[in-house]
Amino acid sequence: METNTETTEEVEEIDLAPAEEIINQLPDNSRGHLIPTLDKVQGIYRYLPDPVMEMLMEFFNIARAEIYGVISFYPQLRITEPGKYIIKLCYGTACFVKGAPIINDKIHEKYHIKPGETDAEKLFTLQTASCLGNCGAAPMAIIGDDTHGTIDPEKTYDILSEYKKDDEETPVTEEVG
Ligand code: FES
Repeated sequence: METNTETTEEVEEIDLAPAEEIINQLPDNSRGHLIPTLDKVQGIYRYLPDPVMEMLMEFFNIARAEIYGVISFYPQLRITEPGKYIIKLCYGTACFVKGAPIINDKIHEKYHIKPGETDAEKLFTLQTASCLGNCGAAPMAIIGDDTHGTIDPEKTYDILSEYKKDDEETPVTEEVG
């Protein structure tokens, strides 16, 4: 089965100004600033786009292989654009026992992604997490900013179908008067 880790080479306009601003605030280009800088840059772009990486390589005078080596060491750093929603599926013991692997399989069946991958629509990026700290509500997952507990694995699709690519907000009906 072919996985859908994003490989599409979309030529995307990346605004480099925010990254430049971060770099300009650094006192010098010592390596000690590299990880915090990568972290800040990702905070803005949600990942580390290649044009930004090139700026960083130049500023820190670091080879591509070396910077990628650093990045590979930190799972929170990403070089590909994540999906609109990051699914953090808890794989701690309680959640594992209560069905996290089934949820994982359902996500794979429907979206063809495994942990670390993003679906073709760039809707979801799946990650596994160690205990999310609420084992009483196992199995748990965090999807975007939402926490879901006591998930019925068989209802995985129902939960995920609430998340859409376009911001189709549920219309709010207001009672007037
Ligand atoms: S094991 Fe999942 S919340 Fe603790």
